[in-house]
Amino acid sequence: MSWLSKLFGNSLQEADLSVLNTDVHSHLIPGIDDGSVSLEDSVNLIRGLHDLGYSKLITTPHIMSDFYRNTPEIILKGLDNVREAISAEGIPIEIFAAAEYYCDHDFELKIGKEDLLTFGDRYLLFELSYLNPSDNFDTVTFKMQLEGYKPVLAHPERYPYWYQSFEKYEEIRDKGVLLQINLASISGHYGTVAKRIAERLIDNNLVDLLGSDMHKLSHIDVYKKAIKEPALHKLLNSGRLLNSSL
Ligand SMILES: [Fe+2]
Repeated sequence: MSWLSKLFGNSLQEADLSVLNTDVHSHLIPGIDDGSVSLEDSVNLIRGLHDLGYSKLITTPHIMSDFYRNTPEIILKGLDNVREAISAEGIPIEIFAAAEYYCDHDFELKIGKEDLLTFGDRYLLFELSYLNPSDNFDTVTFKMQLEGYKPVLAHPERYPYWYQSFEKYEEIRDKGVLLQINLASISGHYGTVAKRIAERLIDNNLVDLLGSDMHKLSHIDVYKKAIKEPALHKLLNSGRLLNSSL
C-alpha cells in the first residue's frame, strides 16, 4: 500500500479521465477480433467510454496472422459502420482506427512493404506474446524506426517473462520504444504482479500512454475501480502522458 492510500484510505477521489481526452487502445469494431461482438455492443462500449470522460477514441483491432487476419480495408470499413451507429445514437465522441499488431513474422515482413495503420505522429501500436519473449523484438522495433514509425508497446506490464528483469523496460524505453499501460492493470484486473509492474513503471516515469484496451462492457466496472487508485492519480498528474496531445 502506498503512502497515499495509507493517508486517504478509500476516500481518495475519483480521477477525472476527461483530462486524457483520447483513449488509444480498444477493440470496438464488431466481429473482427475478440472485442465487440455486434454493432449494438460497440455502441454500448463506446457510450461507456464516453461516460467515463473520453471525447476521442482510437480503436485498435488485433492484426495477428494466426487468429485475426485483419487488413486496413476491413478495419476502416468496420470503422465507417461504427461511426454511422454512434452518430445515429447521438453519442458526442470522435472515433478513429489504428491497429494492435502482433509481433509475428508476418508483421515483420509488412514493415516498409505495406501501409500500416498508425495514430497521431506515426505511432504504431504492437503487442507481444504473453508466453514467450519474441525472437524478432529488436529487428521489428529497429525496422519500425527505420521506416519512420514510432513504436508503442502495448501493455508492457502484462508480459510475465520480464517480471524478474525490470531493467528490460528501461532498456527498451531507452531505445525509443514508447510504453502504453492498461487502465485495468492499475486496478489489479490482470493480477497483482501486473499491477505492481504498472505502478513501478509509473514511479519510474516510463509510461507514455494510457489505454483502456476495452474488449467488453464488464471492463467499465474495472475502470471505475482504477480511477480511485493512487497510482492513476500520480500518472495523470505527471504531465507525461501523450494521450491529450492526440
Ligand atoms: Fe488490445
